Amino acid sequence: MKLFMDTANVAQVAEVAGWGILDGVTTNPSLVAKEGKDFQQTVLEMCKHVPNVSAQVTATDFEGMKKQGDEYAGWHKNIVVKVPMTVEGLKALTYFKSKNIRTNTTLIFSVPQAILAAKAGASIISPFIGRLDDAGEDGMALIEEIMDVWMNYDFETEVLVASTRHPRHIVDAARLGAHIATMPYDLFKKLPLHPLTDSGLKKFQEDWEKVQPKAA
Ligand code: E4P
Repeated sequence: MKLFMDTANVAQVAEVAGWGILDGVTTNPSLVAKEGKDFQQTVLEMCKHVPNVSAQVTATDFEGMKKQGDEYAGWHKNIVVKVPMTVEGLKALTYFKSKNIRTNTTLIFSVPQAILAAKAGASIISPFIGRLDDAGEDGMALIEEIMDVWMNYDFETEVLVASTRHPRHIVDAARLGAHIATMPYDLFKKLPLHPLTDSGLKKFQEDWEKVQPKAA
């Protein structure tokens, strides 16, 4: 299972990449706007730390997506062009596939959308589970259905569980065999922690200290 960070903050990426377990980054226009830094520079800095950095096109028409995506792909080999799940986006996915440019289809909320994006040659699809949960639906049920469908065919498209909110989302995504999960920095920071690890380590250290020779 690959783990990505959902952020446009380079320091956060550098920190977690240092743990040795970070496989990629997903950015989106809202995250980039929140940081207020130059987009190209941000993406290129991230490419120094991870082999996959999703950079989202902001155009909504095929020609515009094509122009932006071609430009992004030319910046660095680690860039994955992020395309919204629309009919124009499907045309763009087909075009990028023909150019061997990697893509991530964003804003997937249904199984038919997932199938269309896979058929158009998306490298990755991103179903947003947290936003479905927020709307009173069951986001993880969508991942379950998509993974069921993926079992029946030879789609090369990887399923990325996006819009995750808590550690249980990561566990459930892994149990369902999703290829990738992306999560915000704060969620990443929770994953290594367990109170029994802390109390256990404290006890080991105390017991070890008790049998160390005292300085004269
Ligand atoms: C994924 O690529 C998206 O950027 C992201 O996961 C959206 O998450 P949100 O619903 O927390 O904004």
